[in-house]
Amino acid sequence: MSKSTGRDDEKKIRASEQEIVEDGASQPGKTDRRGFMRGAGLVGAGFIGAGALAKGVGGSTWGELLQAKAARAADKPGQLDAHVPPGKLDDYYGLWSGGQSGEIRLLGIPSMREIKRIPVMNRDSATGWGRDDWSKQLLGGRDSGDTHHVHMSYKDGTYDGRYIYVNDKANARLARVDCRTMECDAMTDIPNSQGTHGIFPQRHDTGLVLCNSEFRTPQPNDGRDLDDPKAYGAMHTAIDGESMEVKWQVLVEGNMDLCATDYEGKYSFATCYNSEGGVNLEGMMAADRDHLYVFNLAAIEKAVKQKKTIKVGDGKVPVVDARGKDGPYVQRVPIPKSPHGVNMSPDGKYAVCSGKLSPTVSVVDVRKLDDVFAGKIKPRDAVVAEPEVGLGPLHTAFDGRGNAYTSIFIDSVITKWNIDKAIEAFDDESVDPIVEKIDVHYQVGHTNASMSETKEADGKWLIALCKFSKDRFLNVGPLHHENDQLIDISGSKMRLVHDGPAYPEPHDCVLVRRDIIHPEKVTPRDGPRFAFYEKMAKEDGVNLMKDNKVIRKGKGKVRVYMTSAAPVYSLGEFRVKSGDEVQVIQTNLDGIEDLSHGFCVSNHDVNMVVNPMDTRSITFTAGAPGVYWYYCPWFCHALHLEMRGRMIVEA
Ligand code: CUA
Repeated sequence: MSKSTGRDDEKKIRASEQEIVEDGASQPGKTDRRGFMRGAGLVGAGFIGAGALAKGVGGSTWGELLQAKAARAADKPGQLDAHVPPGKLDDYYGLWSGGQSGEIRLLGIPSMREIKRIPVMNRDSATGWGRDDWSKQLLGGRDSGDTHHVHMSYKDGTYDGRYIYVNDKANARLARVDCRTMECDAMTDIPNSQGTHGIFPQRHDTGLVLCNSEFRTPQPNDGRDLDDPKAYGAMHTAIDGESMEVKWQVLVEGNMDLCATDYEGKYSFATCYNSEGGVNLEGMMAADRDHLYVFNLAAIEKAVKQKKTIKVGDGKVPVVDARGKDGPYVQRVPIPKSPHGVNMSPDGKYAVCSGKLSPTVSVVDVRKLDDVFAGKIKPRDAVVAEPEVGLGPLHTAFDGRGNAYTSIFIDSVITKWNIDKAIEAFDDESVDPIVEKIDVHYQVGHTNASMSETKEADGKWLIALCKFSKDRFLNVGPLHHENDQLIDISGSKMRLVHDGPAYPEPHDCVLVRRDIIHPEKVTPRDGPRFAFYEKMAKEDGVNLMKDNKVIRKGKGKVRVYMTSAAPVYSLGEFRVKSGDEVQVIQTNLDGIEDLSHGFCVSNHDVNMVVNPMDTRSITFTAGAPGVYWYYCPWFCHALHLEMRGRMIVEA
């Protein structure tokens, strides 16, 4: 029997076997199925059992059978241990966005234990974030947001452990978390923007953080061009990752979705799913190809320096106008169709764009972009591969071994494919780059792998952030958690190891090796928040570390300085007048790890945490005359319940 016939037989076996392994969740379409079978035929991906062998291998030679057996033996699922026993620590920090909860969350990986919530855009009752004076000022009167993308600051192509950046799609902001305390320390409003979606820091150094506006609006949005969508535009905004100042913006005609940066600091990228400039679904889906915007950062900064900019809105931020056609600032690489994610391979060579409405991902060779900008080749010539990965590809992660993992929304699978083979397949249809598909549950959005967004991608764990979790957890009523799944990708075969319910609605995560992040155990008394308290203390001649004072600040305003040390407040009582604006500034003198106190006043909507060696302040209006107990809400001591005092409100 000829070799090809043997292979055909094996294909038949795999086809019948596939029927067995498919469940209702994967809803494979034609493309998906074909892709799977091609993949199985070429790389011998698992799924062949004794039953199938008995069904139809009669025609194969022994040599072929032995060969097939050897290939299958090589298909070993990963053997990583996801169990982290009590007392042991995880290997990775998972940095999760919290979506419309407005938070960031820290998970331990691989245990998937949630180890911290970091309130950012939201008001948080536990910590007082959004209610205490400093966070309230930072939030500018808002207490909701929609965080999508979390990224850490970089140095030399990998994480530097200093900052976490996150977008607010709802209110067009970029926030930063200081990793020493895991607290938000800065927030920047992005001008001329709506729907700030994709963000990405530069990877060669903590330089710029690039932010995409997803929604096209009139520019400026001051009542002009209301009914003229053709005149709308969107901004690619550069924010200094250190000062958090907006440096410049580039105005383009289409909307921008996900963002990425290269590894050298030359280019940034934005997928555009609405090159049509449509304002309804039909209009946005009309074109067969949209594009990847490629921004030439040096050319843009040169234009800013030479003041080749336009004025939009208040004109404080220089705007480079790159609307309409390709030029020195922006080139548009055609990508089918309404692309969503763009992710850089860890070797820095390829930007992988997911087709969303096309079953393909487009691989853009970043090394060809200099020639695109020089006019030597057409933008589309930078596309070097376009493998079919399944229906609804959204995002791609990498294992550092040449494989890519694309989340497939409609098929509910993660497709593993080989980048080099995909490039071969672009010219040679007989090559199949698809390695394997694994079902996820269900409708996966983002995916990311351990250190995947760095040059140190290590190919151990992959997270599938599934949007739907129906039937994976106990029924909890109409509103479901999401399902963040952990997959072992260390072997040649993927292995699903954990279902992780997540409060709505994480969008993205990155997995950072634990040796990179070094938070402090007690609060470092520096940075913008402490400048805020020290200014007040100086004004009042107060030493925050030891003074307890009630200072009347003119009519109707009182400042109360106090310290705390378990289990007492330094002030057992203070007196104010009904209707006074009372500002309590509390310093926790306990410099012991994990010994937080706080300040809660009965019936006044006042509650905040004060961490070891921290100071925090909160302002409220004293209510009707009477006695109001204030107490420490954090269980700090055997006499925690006794840690309280009286606010005496006089008429
Ligand atoms: Cu301090 Cu409870």
